[in-house]
Amino acid sequence: MKVAQFSSFGRAEDVIECVEADEPLSPQADEAALEVLAFPINPADLLTIEGRYAIRPPLPARIGAECVARVVAIGDSVTDLSVGDLVIPLDRDNWVQRKTSKAGRLVKVPAHVDPLQLAMLKVNPPTAYLMMTKYVELAPGDWIVQTAANSGVGHCLIRLAKTEGHRTINIVRREGLEGELTALGADVVLVDGPDLSERIAAATGRAPIRLAIDAVGGSQIVRFGDALADEAVIVNYGRLSGENPQLSGHQCVFKRLWLTGFWLVPWLQKMSREDVTALYAKLAGQIADGTIQVPVEATFPMEGIKEAIAHANAYQRRGKVLVMPNGPV
Ligand SMILES: NC(=O)c1ccc[n+]([C@@H]2O[C@H](COP(=O)([O-])OP(=O)(O)OC[C@H]3O[C@@H](n4cnc5c(N)ncnc54)[C@H](OP(=O)(O)O)[C@@H]3O)[C@@H](O)[C@H]2O)c1
Repeated sequence: MKVAQFSSFGRAEDVIECVEADEPLSPQADEAALEVLAFPINPADLLTIEGRYAIRPPLPARIGAECVARVVAIGDSVTDLSVGDLVIPLDRDNWVQRKTSKAGRLVKVPAHVDPLQLAMLKVNPPTAYLMMTKYVELAPGDWIVQTAANSGVGHCLIRLAKTEGHRTINIVRREGLEGELTALGADVVLVDGPDLSERIAAATGRAPIRLAIDAVGGSQIVRFGDALADEAVIVNYGRLSGENPQLSGHQCVFKRLWLTGFWLVPWLQKMSREDVTALYAKLAGQIADGTIQVPVEATFPMEGIKEAIAHANAYQRRGKVLVMPNGPV
């Protein structure tokens, strides 16, 4: 079978390879055999291949934070899955045509839902949901500021905030995205720039903004931080600028802003299996009813993994790049 693999850390499209590997072993009693239908290429996957992520696997390494897969066989003691079910694996190394997994590490998802959307369920929707709900108690009508608002996480946050009645200020780095994000439910869309705090204050009537969600890092927070309420919480979850998140002295001392970080991995590890199942059932339901819909820009076969990664690394995409390792779904 074909798998994506890299043997040295480096520029992702250079070092990733599609190679032939042994078929996975037949499932043990507590395992399921899976056929992978689709996986997205996420920024964290690219960082992992570059050796710049929190997880640095021994080489040569398989890769892939998420996928959606079909169960093709189950072990004798597996009672909560059937052949034909669709699942998302909680474990990594999903950029493969087939794999075997402990049934307890799989989450069953609805079979009637677009598999490409389900392939993007594991990482970005819970990231948006947990950052929106676990740091600040918000009421309907409250404002949230977010950066990189046209990203996959950004799309999810706009939609999830809308369902809760929260209003969003969406910062992007380029013109031309206002129509698309407003159609999704964004209340305000602003292009990053030096007078950002003033433009946010003007757009919200100087409303007290108590939650900001940032994927960019660097000086981005300095540019919008003056528009936040005193003691507001800024949740940083990415470093798209390549730089550490910064606050001005005024924002740190006089406004007393709280800057914290979010990483999905420990959140999921700390949750009980029941809570993880309930979280994904809720979010899969929101994919099924159309609340969460992340645009797909392009799909590739497994043999096109280098092209897929080059495409995912490009600026100004209109959606996510996915690979369908066993043909179109
Ligand atoms: N901490 C966690 O647990 C966690 C979980 C999920 C995701 N993340 C992080 O969240 C971020 C977004 O992930 P995703 O999968 O949603 O991304 P994505 O859909 O692949 O999109 C990437 C987005 O980043 C924007 N971007 C890239 N560099 C930028 C910069 N310097 N300034 C502003 N915007 C920039 C791109 O804008 P253009 O369209 O203008 O190119 C694009 O909208 C990544 O940093 C990822 O690592 C973290």
